[in-house]
Amino acid sequence: MDYFEEQDGKAVNPSTEPTIGEVISRRTFLKGAAATGAFGLFGCATTGTASDAPSFTEVPRSTSDRHQVPPGYNAQVLLRQGDPIKPGAPEYNPLTQTGAQQEQQFGTDADFISYMPLPYGSNNSTRGLLGVNHENHRANLCFPGNPKQLTREQVEVQMAAQGFSIVEIAKEANEWRVVRDSRYNRRISTNAPMRISGPAAGHPRMQTSTDPTGTRSFGTFNNCAGGTTPWGTMLTAEENIQNYFSGDAGKGPEAAARKRYNISGKGRYADWGRHFDRFNLDKEPNEPNRFGWIVEIDPYDPNHTSVKRTALGRCAHECATHAVSHDGRVAIYSGDDARMEFVYKFVTERPYDPKNREANRDLLDRGTLYVARFEDNGKMRWLPLVHGQGPLTAANGFNSQADVVIEARRAGTLVGATPMDRPEDVQPHPQTGRVYVVMTYNERRTEAEVNAANPRANNKWGHIIEIVPPLVNGKPDHAATECDWGFFIVAGDPSKPEQRARYANAPSANGWVCAPDNVAFDPRGRIWITTDGQDDAAGFNDSLYAATTSGPNRGATRCFFTGPVGCEVCGPEFTPDGRTLFLAIQHPGDGSSFDKPSTRWPDFRSDLPPRGSVLAITKADGGEIGS
Ligand code: FEO
Ligand code: CA
Ligand code: CA
Repeated sequence: MDYFEEQDGKAVNPSTEPTIGEVISRRTFLKGAAATGAFGLFGCATTGTASDAPSFTEVPRSTSDRHQVPPGYNAQVLLRQGDPIKPGAPEYNPLTQTGAQQEQQFGTDADFISYMPLPYGSNNSTRGLLGVNHENHRANLCFPGNPKQLTREQVEVQMAAQGFSIVEIAKEANEWRVVRDSRYNRRISTNAPMRISGPAAGHPRMQTSTDPTGTRSFGTFNNCAGGTTPWGTMLTAEENIQNYFSGDAGKGPEAAARKRYNISGKGRYADWGRHFDRFNLDKEPNEPNRFGWIVEIDPYDPNHTSVKRTALGRCAHECATHAVSHDGRVAIYSGDDARMEFVYKFVTERPYDPKNREANRDLLDRGTLYVARFEDNGKMRWLPLVHGQGPLTAANGFNSQADVVIEARRAGTLVGATPMDRPEDVQPHPQTGRVYVVMTYNERRTEAEVNAANPRANNKWGHIIEIVPPLVNGKPDHAATECDWGFFIVAGDPSKPEQRARYANAPSANGWVCAPDNVAFDPRGRIWITTDGQDDAAGFNDSLYAATTSGPNRGATRCFFTGPVGCEVCGPEFTPDGRTLFLAIQHPGDGSSFDKPSTRWPDFRSDLPPRGSVLAITKADGGEIGS
């Protein structure tokens, strides 16, 4: 398990008291489950053929300090933590690292990856821009001596190491390389100037002494997964922002709101507040309200100022993935990765204009934010989070839409959203429009807390839900407020009945999944699932699995890749031709230290610690991955 996730470790949603609807729903569900011995709502009607299934020689489970790919595949280390991405940038030296150096180098803890072709609008699979999230910086793995209290200089390194990287890459003769002198290459770290837009922009709760306007913030951190827009921008999700603030969290008008966001003042990055006032709650009480957003980044414009889109709500955003609805409006899906938190979608007010990129520039500022409620009858509803509607009024402390988006979690509870088992990635299938919602695990859910969509207490293995939007003229309606749902995978070891794992078709002996996190679809529409936490739950390294989502092999997962010990595998991303798969290997060696690392992946040099890196996986014959 990655100890940086949901630090403090408590189920922060205090609203696990069931609503009447949930009580009825649970009773019906339990009755149904008892009668059948299995979960109801399993799978949805699908079409497809056996040839949809990905084809490769499966790799065995691993506890090794190295990675594995199937025979006939190459895994090239393309970008490592500390690799220079600017002309003249220094080579990585962990003993002399500074914030200024790190600002010119690839960051730590790579997670989300987006590949966008060059030039803009093309389908080029041999030259493009890689956007990569940098989720954390682990002092124990990056600094010698396992320091317990960091110096100002060390905090500066941490601040520069997180955020986002944009790097131009090119492929020649089946090998990728970094174009180091590209004008596009840049880092967007904790210090990058940003614009705040949408309903919370300018609100007094967003104002600080360095930004009395509440419209300009500095930087982004704890960037977990993300997404893209149809107009060629990238979206990065600020996830576990609670870890970065020190001071007395229980004091002042924000105290109650902080509690729901698990901001205790005792985060793992509490040293930041000792050296920089803005991370000290006693000095800047509103600074936490300026994090936990979705940030829009234009990789094609090196001078673009990134924008925090507050209309999409504030939470521990895992991702922000898009689907274009039948009428051209755009839905952005996101999970709030905390125990008992919710799944969200935002639907733009206006349709997207494929012919005019500029017209889409601020599309994410106006629209409706919804939160998901899963019923036990195979239906789910998207409930609007709109100020003035239902309980979202001044009587409950919501004086404007700004309050609603800043406290999206509390708003979700009041409208009756379903508390989930840590929602990670939420990915719409590009061909079918079905939306795959990944719950990674929630070992703290009790029997009294199960609901139809989160049916196991002590859920150590996770599950994947499939939401099926209605069709309008044959196209998915992603703006719909009523959809069908079922399970795609109830993860775990199917040979152990007590786990109650369930797959539409039997996975291989090495292919069952545990702790799913990120998913991606290849150009043939097959799902690729990475994991984060298999080591703790199942005793082997985190991995990548593939399966078809339709046809007779639907859901029969098989293992394609295993990572080195201690890592989580994330960011799966394909080039448009399906011939390259990018993978982020985050925190190899986690649980050990710089001085005594459990691996020195990827370079195994005695003078370097393990380093989070991006792999470019290709077939030796240059063909499509999994075919
Ligand atoms: Fe950072 Fe939710 O994984
Ligand atoms: Ca994740
Ligand atoms: Ca995770």
